[in-house]
Amino acid sequence: MAESMKGLHRTHRCAELGTAQVGETVTVMGWVQKSRNKGGIIFVDLRDRSGILQLIFEEADCRADNFQKAEKLRSEFVVAAVGKVEKRSGAVNANLATGEIEIRVSEVRILSEAQTPPFPIEADSRTKEEMRLKYRFLDLRRPDIQSKLMLRSQVATKVRAVLAEEGFLEIETPILIKSTPEGARDYLVPSRVHQGKFYALPQSPQLFKQLLMCSGYDRYFQIAKCFRDEDLRADRQPEFTQIDMEMSFVDVDDVIAVNERLLQKVFKDAIGLEIELPLPRMTWQEAMDRFGSDKPDTRFGMELNDVSEVVRGCGFGVFTGALEKGGSVRGINAKGQGQMPRKKIDALVEFAKGYGAKGLAYAAVQPDGSVKSSFAKFMTEEQMKALLDAMEAEPGDLLLFAADQNKVVWDVLGSLRLEIAKNLELFDKNQFRFLWVTEFPLLEWSEEQGRFVAMHHPFTMPMEEDLDKLDSDPGAVRAKAYDIVLNGTELGGGSVRIFQADVQEKMFEVLGFTKEQAKERFGFLLDAFQYGVPPHAGLAYGFDRLMMLMTGADSIREVIAFPKVKDASDLMTNAPDVVDQVQLEELGIEITAEEEE
Ligand code: AMO
Ligand code: AMP
Repeated sequence: MAESMKGLHRTHRCAELGTAQVGETVTVMGWVQKSRNKGGIIFVDLRDRSGILQLIFEEADCRADNFQKAEKLRSEFVVAAVGKVEKRSGAVNANLATGEIEIRVSEVRILSEAQTPPFPIEADSRTKEEMRLKYRFLDLRRPDIQSKLMLRSQVATKVRAVLAEEGFLEIETPILIKSTPEGARDYLVPSRVHQGKFYALPQSPQLFKQLLMCSGYDRYFQIAKCFRDEDLRADRQPEFTQIDMEMSFVDVDDVIAVNERLLQKVFKDAIGLEIELPLPRMTWQEAMDRFGSDKPDTRFGMELNDVSEVVRGCGFGVFTGALEKGGSVRGINAKGQGQMPRKKIDALVEFAKGYGAKGLAYAAVQPDGSVKSSFAKFMTEEQMKALLDAMEAEPGDLLLFAADQNKVVWDVLGSLRLEIAKNLELFDKNQFRFLWVTEFPLLEWSEEQGRFVAMHHPFTMPMEEDLDKLDSDPGAVRAKAYDIVLNGTELGGGSVRIFQADVQEKMFEVLGFTKEQAKERFGFLLDAFQYGVPPHAGLAYGFDRLMMLMTGADSIREVIAFPKVKDASDLMTNAPDVVDQVQLEELGIEITAEEEE
């Protein structure tokens, strides 16, 4: 039978106690981590979110019924204990914040009994994630997860404080909105009142924050839930949280400046990291050329090298063929990997093929300077030497080359660079390399849709100097868009927005929307632009990603209280699930898909 806590008031959390309180009578409440009965004396580790505290029960000190209760305590029982803080009688536990003290209990109450949990509640659990997510309410008791979620709360508080100081207003935007696809697939919510019609859940507050600027709110922010029906990965969830902001009467540098101050203060407050400002910046073009990625991890080198001019006219058809088709030949130098066994090189070739490479050419420089290569036979000695020189190859190095269209070459070598770095353990989680990537292309050609699509979103401003190319060469237009990258992860992104109705209409035209379609989808925004709109710009961080990187977690699931798994389901609640026939009828919905096995 559970006892009441009537008459008791918790005075401290477990780990708030220390030698300063010795002699005081305190009341603590929490979960039993473990209990050891030494006959006549019982030690209990009591746990709450602050940490662990040792309780000591001696038959001589407490009433008989209290000692009998202590004998019954099992892991995860919830108890309240009243007692005196004392210096430990036994050995000091240096691993515990409260390791020098213990509570000599005079009264204990069992507030709740507990079944044996399906896995131990302890840090660095080795239990399979599937199991942990099924019992997430237990998993969330583990101290490593608790500390991550506590830090997340602290960061949210700090973000609010800093942005308030910077003059931002926190304003909520709706969750049930009109479907205005932004890139990913929308989650839809059927309307009961308007049968056959649907709300969409927001992929981001984008349009609403722009409207708030039109309405004169000047600086907006929100810690906003966003929903995207896309394939999940370690850094992607179907619902996730953005730290979202928008500012009026600003340009790229203003947004970057505010956000650098924000990052500096937040990282200092949360993990004591000193960030030196200004953060480095790199254009998208440079990022692709040097790292084959628009979110380069700059914690290590192994940069891409364009050797197209060096191999032009050589005898290797794979290289010259790619160049003839307007592509390029680029390579990376895996320093000191020249002795990599053939099997491992073959694995890298297969890896590259997974990223669209038709093959991967390699040259391994042996300690004696001779070269083992998949293509040496197609080249003269001078040609090979020129190539090695261009790659700054030294004995013991492994050179890997891809020849194809630029996009493929970047993707292949950019991914290969990361794969090799992973194998060689070049990632240092204690290093934080921030980087702004700027001047993204405005548009991206979609083979699938046979048209240009917006690289960021359709409201992003082209760079003034490229405006005239919108008609003649849309693919070459650069945008006033920027991403903040941390250790190879896109932490956030944003842009200066189009605020001129004619440029916005032009943009819709380039994207292949008819006037009617644009009006149908974004009419309210175009309307707002007719009534006085300030130049504005903004940015959104993935809050989950921020916390993942800050805590060194491997996945955003570790910093989200109730995450979903790969197939977008929740293993604990079993969502998504079937609903009552009555609910469907109210909505006018009939299920035609065959029932899953
Ligand atoms: P964007 O689409 O780049 O921009 O998103 C901003 C940031 O949100 C995070 N993010 C995600 N995090 C977890 N799971 C996901 N599925 C997911 N998708 C995105 C990323 C990303 O950098 N409205 C614009 C911002 C703007 O222009 O102001 C937007 O949403 O960290
Ligand atoms: P092949 O002539 O197709 O047998 O290829 C000769 C070598 O070039 C092999 O090592 C291939 O893996 C490599 N190779 C093939 N296609 C490419 C490519 N697009 N880029 C780089 N190397 C390639």
